[in-house]
Amino acid sequence: MNKNDVREGTVIAMGMNGEGVLKDNGIIVFVPFTLVGEKIRYKVLKVASGYAYAKVEEVLTPAEERVRPKCPVFGKCGGCQLQHVKYASQLKIKEDNIATCFKKIAFTDVCVKPTVRGDDEFRYRNKLQLPVSVDKQGRTIIGFYAENSHRVVPVSDCPINAVWTADVIAAFTEYFELSGLKGYNEISHTGDIREIAVKDVKGKLIITIVATLKSLPDKDKLISILTEKVKYAFSLYLNVNEAHSNVIYGDTFIHIYGSKDFAADMLGVRYRVGVQSFMQVNDCVCAKLYSAVSALALADENTTVIDAYSGAGLMTALLAKRAKKAIGIEIVPEAVGLANLLAKQNGLEDKISNYQGKCEEILPDIIEREKQQGNKTVIVLDPPRKGCDIKVINAVKESAADKIIYVSCKPSTLARDVGLIIGTLNHNGSEIVKAENPCGNYVIDSVRPFDMFAQTKHVETICVLARTK
Ligand SMILES: C[S@@+](CC[C@H](N)C(=O)[O-])C[C@H]1O[C@@H](n2cnc3c(N)ncnc32)[C@H](O)[C@@H]1O
Repeated sequence: MNKNDVREGTVIAMGMNGEGVLKDNGIIVFVPFTLVGEKIRYKVLKVASGYAYAKVEEVLTPAEERVRPKCPVFGKCGGCQLQHVKYASQLKIKEDNIATCFKKIAFTDVCVKPTVRGDDEFRYRNKLQLPVSVDKQGRTIIGFYAENSHRVVPVSDCPINAVWTADVIAAFTEYFELSGLKGYNEISHTGDIREIAVKDVKGKLIITIVATLKSLPDKDKLISILTEKVKYAFSLYLNVNEAHSNVIYGDTFIHIYGSKDFAADMLGVRYRVGVQSFMQVNDCVCAKLYSAVSALALADENTTVIDAYSGAGLMTALLAKRAKKAIGIEIVPEAVGLANLLAKQNGLEDKISNYQGKCEEILPDIIEREKQQGNKTVIVLDPPRKGCDIKVINAVKESAADKIIYVSCKPSTLARDVGLIIGTLNHNGSEIVKAENPCGNYVIDSVRPFDMFAQTKHVETICVLARTK
């Protein structure tokens, strides 16, 4: 098999990134936007040892679950990988992927429960991030990055983002034309505007313009265009980022217009969202996920809940309501500040202690202290995609917690970390290996996906581990 070969084959499985997989003369070929059972014509893009990447040229026999994607740039933009699949089949693909990760990575079989889904398969996102760049003719463009790339694909709307998306893009297009501001070129490091970011806090928008400028020209004009085109209350910030890197935000946020932050409520917990606060992207599924964590924790007035990777503390507060106390651990100082405020606003300050720092440095001592005191404990882990540090895993593994609730946004790192906790995997100091004699203090009790990211390959999962001895 060589690069640029055009060949035919039948897709036999789905890969971890939502792509079709086929075998051609012993070589495994990954072909995005194809489905199991489909006969396809594909063009080879890259050949490596034992595997290859290809792009689909034509679907010769479409699968029954194939549908026409809503978005005109589906396949070009890197945001969605599964818009060509019926929604029920998207869920099945993600459930199978989770089971495969546990089998292949953690050497354990799991029964994945049916996915909890949101009310909306489209228009569910409350957070929009639009890179601004220039095209080959030097014209400013607003869009999304292509898959695995920093090339901007221009868009005028996005069907998974909120209903105001097209209006925001139209408003900024008009403003850039009027002001003559240029999109940023990441290669030559020239241009003014790098990104537009919008957060929807229950119908009120926090809009941030990331720019190489220290002040925004014609800002009154921008405010009047946004007011006219986007029929929502909004606040406006300028973030100054002059760095020659692809880090999104600079350190300085300048408040330009509107309320500095907005209040919101979820499951009876009041909180405030500021320009730098972390927000789950799907309010409906987020509420279902937090309710499930709280119900699974089964915390009572004798239970201490340790909420590791606690963000702005919303889940910590929900857990604290039923428990004796809750302990949050979070690396970002602003998030810890908001979590403390949230505890106070909800009358929970006596029940919540928030620690700022790395879980790998703080959690082992907290676990040991709770163990020494003989406290009934539940540990919640909600790490970023890369999963937990080995120091966190080792501390959790040797804890006396009755239950561990692992909330994950990446099945492969979830499987790895759970394998280490239940003992099917060992960390031998330098690498992770299959355990010869699997044994541990915890077993997998349940695995349930939550479809926070419909139309994409991503999925949130709750895995509950129960203590055996
Ligand atoms: C997936 S978010 C979960 C946040 C929170 N549980 C929620 O639902 O909003 C992961 C959080 O872990 C924090 N984080 C990342 N690395 C960390 C570390 N080593 N120690 C503590 N917190 C960390 C991030 O800042 C982020 O707030």
